[in-house]
Amino acid sequence: MPDILNDYKNAGTVLQDAVKTLRTNIRFSSVDNPIKTIVMTSVLPHEGKSTLSIFLGIAMAEIGQKTLLIECDCRKPMLRNYFNIRPQYGIMDVLRREVAADKAVVHTQQAGLDVLSSTVLANPVEILGSERMQTMIGEFNKIYDVIILDTPPLGSFIEAAVLASKADGTVLVINQGSTQIERARAVVSQLEKAKAHVLGVVLNNVEMSSSDYYYSDYYYRDGRKKKRKHKSESTETPVNVRRTSADTGRTNNGVQGRNTKSRKITGVEEGTEK
Ligand SMILES: Nc1ncnc2c1ncn2[C@@H]1O[C@H](COP(=O)(O)OP(=O)(O)OP(=O)(O)O)[C@@H](O)[C@H]1O
Ligand SMILES: [Mg+2]
Repeated sequence: MPDILNDYKNAGTVLQDAVKTLRTNIRFSSVDNPIKTIVMTSVLPHEGKSTLSIFLGIAMAEIGQKTLLIECDCRKPMLRNYFNIRPQYGIMDVLRREVAADKAVVHTQQAGLDVLSSTVLANPVEILGSERMQTMIGEFNKIYDVIILDTPPLGSFIEAAVLASKADGTVLVINQGSTQIERARAVVSQLEKAKAHVLGVVLNNVEMSSSDYYYSDYYYRDGRKKKRKHKSESTETPVNVRRTSADTGRTNNGVQGRNTKSRKITGVEEGTEK
């Protein structure tokens, strides 16, 4: 089994529960207009977009949602490495009409999760924002229940805003240790100006004790810093993942990564409505 699938399957119930809550929050965030196409982006590089995109894709597929993960990060494509696959064709071949979509899509070892990967392209904005891209997504929408678009960081490149304007929802992944709140606010407002439907924020890599979580931490929501309510009073469903060294024994593709301290992924906080 490729490493990233192994990582998820072996990560332990704490991580899996967090990703499942993220899945639930996304699925039920809009009852009238189901969220089918989801853009994952961040402010800075390396905040965990690809990892979260893959984990969410696995979690969606696990409940029978036929899921396609499209790599729209042509700046630094990584899906091949994460899945240890070597597809002959990628998204650009499809968009340039050089190959049929079904020839470029690759099944993964997670039943129900397919991948359309990318190769490096210096300036992908025009083609990702094109009618052809829209048409391609429209065609995939007939086949898949969920389409996840993994994009480059919006703090550096515009692709995520272009794609988010047409997607059903956008999730901003924030690495608590690296992203300043002002920059996060600026990116949320950039998304809103692009008419994106910001579903919320995933806080990744949060160092927090359980008592912090239950009682007194502050968190980012709607561009403001707010005091979290006591869990029992809260109307939200925050997810907290604490991955201890026991949870994360591997290092192969770096999901366990930077150190052995506890880390968390907090699920989607309620975002702004379109
Ligand atoms: N919660 C986490 N705990 C530990 N390591 C993590 C976590 N989330 C992501 N990582 C690691 O951080 C690194 C960057 O993750 P990932 O590639 O998912 O980020 P990205 O936002 O897609 O980066 P890029 O901007 O380069 O596309 C990887 O080595 C990944 O394994
Ligand atoms: Mg990435």
